[in-house]
Amino acid sequence: MSADASHPSPSARPLASRRTGALKGTVSVPGDKSISHRAFLFGGLAAGRTRVSGLLEGEDVLATGRAMRQMGARIERDGAHWIIDGVGNGALLEPEGVLDFGNAGTGSRLTMGLVGPYDFTTTFVGDASLSRRPMGRVLDPLREMGVQVLARSKDRLPLSIRGPRVAAPITYRVPMASAQVKSAVLFAGLNTPGTTTVVEPVMTRDHTEKMLAGFGARVHVETDAAGVRTIALEGQGDLQGVPDFVVPGDPSSAAFLVVAALLVEGSDVTVRNALMNPTRTGLIETLREMGASIEILNPRLSGGEDVADLRVRHSPLRGVSVPASRAPSMIDEYPVLAVAAAFADGTTRMEGLEELRVKESDRLAAVAAGLAANGVAHEEGEDWLTVTGRPDGSGLGGGRVATHLDHRIAMSFLVMGLASEKPVSVDDATMIATSFPEFEGLVSGLGGMLEPAS
Ligand code: S3P
Repeated sequence: MSADASHPSPSARPLASRRTGALKGTVSVPGDKSISHRAFLFGGLAAGRTRVSGLLEGEDVLATGRAMRQMGARIERDGAHWIIDGVGNGALLEPEGVLDFGNAGTGSRLTMGLVGPYDFTTTFVGDASLSRRPMGRVLDPLREMGVQVLARSKDRLPLSIRGPRVAAPITYRVPMASAQVKSAVLFAGLNTPGTTTVVEPVMTRDHTEKMLAGFGARVHVETDAAGVRTIALEGQGDLQGVPDFVVPGDPSSAAFLVVAALLVEGSDVTVRNALMNPTRTGLIETLREMGASIEILNPRLSGGEDVADLRVRHSPLRGVSVPASRAPSMIDEYPVLAVAAAFADGTTRMEGLEELRVKESDRLAAVAAGLAANGVAHEEGEDWLTVTGRPDGSGLGGGRVATHLDHRIAMSFLVMGLASEKPVSVDDATMIATSFPEFEGLVSGLGGMLEPAS
């Protein structure tokens, strides 16, 4: 297994960024990570063929593809497309060997749900970061359905699960705002007789519900007056492959380019084909409140999702208060928002950040440490962060950031170095390939300066 998450591995690749001229150009970001994972899962499960375009070819997603192959799906790349021949709902094969999910929380947790009810043993392993992350949030509802769990260290990877002869449908109220937990229970419901129901008090990204319907599952979603959602899925129905499944561009990857363009003087960048699903647009809303010039151009539908092009121009920003209620719609964007806030006039306050503690790293601690290393005034609480900015970036930078095997920490602080007075370096850029392998090429193509660091 790889190095401890708190230390870069011997194969770490330190990288630095420095202030340059304006960023200019038009770019497309790669496919959405959440939807790409689900495309492999649903495509591999559904009967018949699914042809996917725009899939994110990041390491996390490819690990999910490998796992589906190990369980019987045929998955091939064909030029710009991926062709998936699924096994049919209920017909996954017992995998040979372990399923290695690398760094991928979404892939591992959703697959645990998917195979949970099967009457065979599946073993999950991952890297040092994934092996620290809590899996009980997914295993607890699976246990209620009859799934057995064997783990050396409580509810952490490596672990094995084994389903009962017949799983029991449950009604599960998701105790934290987590699309992964919601999705794992729904995936488990696919191979469970009767109706599996998930109650979601706080809405999170809804890709699983949408794709269930798109692949032909009988799923019903209701939202009450208080905004509580009830998702009822009829188990053991047929799923059919989707002949032309389109993955829109990832707004969580676009975020790094959007913030870079806002911070670097004179910049004018258009990011094409970004997913605009309202469960994913909290960062855009927040940046606009801060005074950002972000034009939403050419809004359209693509593969059943709202997408648009974003034209972003360098803008002076002011500090704002970001309510806790917005966290689910921008949960992966706080590290780069903290970087934007470092250049805003005044203080930005972010609340409701408890889930950041259990991401690829303890992201709240990693962000705070990165801000400290680069001279940014900030305060960290148990579930909140305040950042006080320097609009001209003077005195900022000069630090080395520990990334803790976390791609978003690496990209966020590289964005900081494009605008801060002194360069910023990160201890390891290799993890960027888990979600956004094109990041360095796109930043350089727009005129950003990235260079190897020692
Ligand atoms: C994801 C859900 C979120 C998010 C992750 C992707 C998904 O995690 O942080 O990057 O695809 O369902 P949580 O469910 O832990 O909030």
